[in-house]
Amino acid sequence: MSTLFEPYDLAGIQLDNRIIMAPMTRSRAPNDIPNEMGALYYRQRASAGLIISEGTPVSRQGTGYLYNPGIYGPDQLDGWAKATRAVHERGGVFFAQIWHVGRVSHTSVQIAGAAPVGPSEQQGGMAFGYNEQGIPDMLPASTPRRLATREVREIVRDFAQAAVNARNVGFDGVEIHGANGYLFEQFLNAVVNDRDDEYGGSRENRCRLLIEVVDEVCALIGSHRVGVRLSPHGQLFDMPEYDDNGETYLYLAREFNKRNLAYVHLHDQGGQGMPPLPRDYLKQFRDTYHGNLLFAGNLDKTEAEKLVNDGTIDLPVFGRLFTSNPDLVERMKNDWPLAEYDPNTFYGGDARGYVDFPSYAEEQERQARQRLIDEKS
Ligand SMILES: Cc1cc2nc3c(=O)[nH]c(=O)nc-3n(C[C@H](O)[C@H](O)[C@H](O)COP(=O)(O)O)c2cc1C
Repeated sequence: MSTLFEPYDLAGIQLDNRIIMAPMTRSRAPNDIPNEMGALYYRQRASAGLIISEGTPVSRQGTGYLYNPGIYGPDQLDGWAKATRAVHERGGVFFAQIWHVGRVSHTSVQIAGAAPVGPSEQQGGMAFGYNEQGIPDMLPASTPRRLATREVREIVRDFAQAAVNARNVGFDGVEIHGANGYLFEQFLNAVVNDRDDEYGGSRENRCRLLIEVVDEVCALIGSHRVGVRLSPHGQLFDMPEYDDNGETYLYLAREFNKRNLAYVHLHDQGGQGMPPLPRDYLKQFRDTYHGNLLFAGNLDKTEAEKLVNDGTIDLPVFGRLFTSNPDLVERMKNDWPLAEYDPNTFYGGDARGYVDFPSYAEEQERQARQRLIDEKS
């Protein structure tokens, strides 16, 4: 008997089921302001046990891509309030993924053409900014500027403010984006982080920024409303492997055990063309981390059920399948066929490939109507 479709208590927040929607950047927010179409997109997917929003930058400095809705300006907050209302009207639970890209940005998306910032001057990753002709384009990230120690502390404050903003506009919690080669992972990484202040060097120092942000955010909105996303051994955006990578994340797991978070969310980047996260390591992490464990990466219903039933994870997270199946929960529950996703419409563009994927019931209705029309003609 599947437990995937039974309610789940996420640190006191009641989820209708265990099917979680992954954070997914869709790059459809003009001027970085969340709009009605975005609210509709989330509303359509509100039967998920939990929706984690697309990455939402905590500041202009933390932005690396055009058309990503931020969570720092008043218009952005009004926009997000519409989205949270839309999800709650359908009984959904909604966390905001709060994000700073660090070095993965481009001068053309920073204020006054400033350089992106990072733990060091090492360049890496691809940003989405304006090319020399002023046309939106994928571009190699610009060479970053090394953050001064004082500036690192300012970023802690930006995350704290973003978490308060998220709570004020109706999000049920936040997920701190510690994965996929962005700011926190750049600090965790022993090669990219070559600092000699208290944020670099030893494992404890490399983990300090993420832990400080977690603590500050927990103090302000409550630890049961705080999740953290991590990608151990992740190599997205030119993150080099380093000797104590696995141990670094186990250290974080032990630190997070002390803090009663809503969850830790691991992302296996295997589906993104990177080396997959070894299942042995996932099990080791599970044995070390005692709170709710979310896991994303190439899951289908069968694999999700297996991992939940054998206790490897608590909650399976689905990304791409949610783009094309707004009613993924109902489809999986009833073993209805799944609609194929379309990578061409993942990022940018309009309603197509975004809010025009029908639910299974809508699709059946459309086909029935078509049959009637065909019979009459
Ligand atoms: C279009 C797209 C956008 C994504 N944007 C984000 C993001 O904003 N933040 C993040 O942590 N992961 C992001 N991811 C990764 C997903 O959250 C997820 O972990 C990944 O797609 C693996 O799950 P899947 O195999 O079920 O798709 C994105 C993935 C896709 C396909």
